[in-house]
Amino acid sequence: MNFGDLTVKKHRLEIGGCDCKELAEKYGTPLYVFDVCRCEKTAKAYVDILKREYPDFTVCYASKAFSCVGIYGILAPLGLGADVVSGGELYTALKGGMSASRIYFHGNNKSESEIKYAVESGIQGFVVDSEREIELITKHATSPQNVLVRVNPGVEAHTHRFIQTTLTDSKFGFSIADGTAERFISSLTGKKNIRFAGIACHIGSQIFEKQSFEIAIDKMTDFIVRLNGLGISVERLDLGGGYGIHYIENDRPLTPEQYMTNTARYLKSAVEKRGIKPPMLIVEPGRSIVGEAGITLYSVGAIKTIKDVKTYAAVDGGMFDNPRAMLYEAQYTAVVCDKADIAGDTKYSIAGKCCESGDILIDGVMLPELKSGDVLAVLSTGAYHYSMASNYNRNFVPPTVAVKRGRSAYMIKPQTYEDLVRNDCVPDFEEDAQ
Ligand code: LLP
Repeated sequence: MNFGDLTVKKHRLEIGGCDCKELAEKYGTPLYVFDVCRCEKTAKAYVDILKREYPDFTVCYASKAFSCVGIYGILAPLGLGADVVSGGELYTALKGGMSASRIYFHGNNKSESEIKYAVESGIQGFVVDSEREIELITKHATSPQNVLVRVNPGVEAHTHRFIQTTLTDSKFGFSIADGTAERFISSLTGKKNIRFAGIACHIGSQIFEKQSFEIAIDKMTDFIVRLNGLGISVERLDLGGGYGIHYIENDRPLTPEQYMTNTARYLKSAVEKRGIKPPMLIVEPGRSIVGEAGITLYSVGAIKTIKDVKTYAAVDGGMFDNPRAMLYEAQYTAVVCDKADIAGDTKYSIAGKCCESGDILIDGVMLPELKSGDVLAVLSTGAYHYSMASNYNRNFVPPTVAVKRGRSAYMIKPQTYEDLVRNDCVPDFEEDAQ
């Protein structure tokens, strides 16, 4: 089994030099654990490769993968910027020490108050997705705002596949194929406080195929040629994120080094071939920076064998800390923390504790025989877990503990029952009427 940067000592799983079972005892379960060095190593790889291969660049961490104050304190010193998609992510990034000058605001339906807040914060730029947004930026800006336009290049990629389409059915972006992108960008000329700075795309997530990114680069640079022909120069090219990671044995992602080397070199040659000015390159990795740095620890509770059908092992987490299993039928690897390298001989369905039959985290994983109280680690849960978690069934969103060189500390503290009712109130119609 591939444990990535995790280590196993005397059958016991370690992350960031900390024993997982001891972490579970110290902090309780369910628990998100985040390996700081692992995250730093990946983030640094993105920056270092681009420094060497394509020096005019910004790596903007896609906050949606895992946004909390602590993550920006890890990434900002390494030279990364951030992509945010809500006022909440912007607030968190600023609180975490990310400079506004390195923040881009994405999203297909930014609210007026979010736009106002972003303008007042002095962010680096907006990735604009509608005409309405331009009106709102103009309304609130008192100085020129950098605007990148989200376009739809007609490449849609998924883990092992990519589809090239002239598909215009996407809630994101102006279509290149049907001419709306070109018309929209042309319409920006002369608009007050709107400074057209470039174009942006994002072709999908958990992509393994470098060819998908190459096709996107071809389409985007062809589009730059077209815009140049209209007298419009394109200073920045944002290729989004989507770089895949390892969840299960069969996953074969490229390394961040390979993804970036290929992107940088392919872009350089695409630009040369077309004789256009090399744009500043923006990439927005999210999952690949935090995904494999995170694991989730659970305690096994009830074990139920249905004769000739299956054995369920229920854990103290579920769809409230990992909605991905249900939403996308996402697959995971689990290990027993004190038998991490012992081959499994029993097949289990790892069930969550929510009142939904579909709340199954892993439907069939071979593990050594389980007993109540065993601690399980589910791997690669650093991205889109905490950020997509909920208080469903009034369960707590698990805390996150950061680990680094054998030490551990909270990155996100535990919730309390009081937190669950903090904003609840009994409606007082008399008072609200005044
Ligand atoms: N940039 C833009 C404009 C995006 O929409 C996204 C992700 C990213 C960057 C980062 O993509 P990444 O490098 O993380 O693949 N909840 C889903 C993933 C949704 C991704 C949405 N956009 C999941 O759990 O798989």
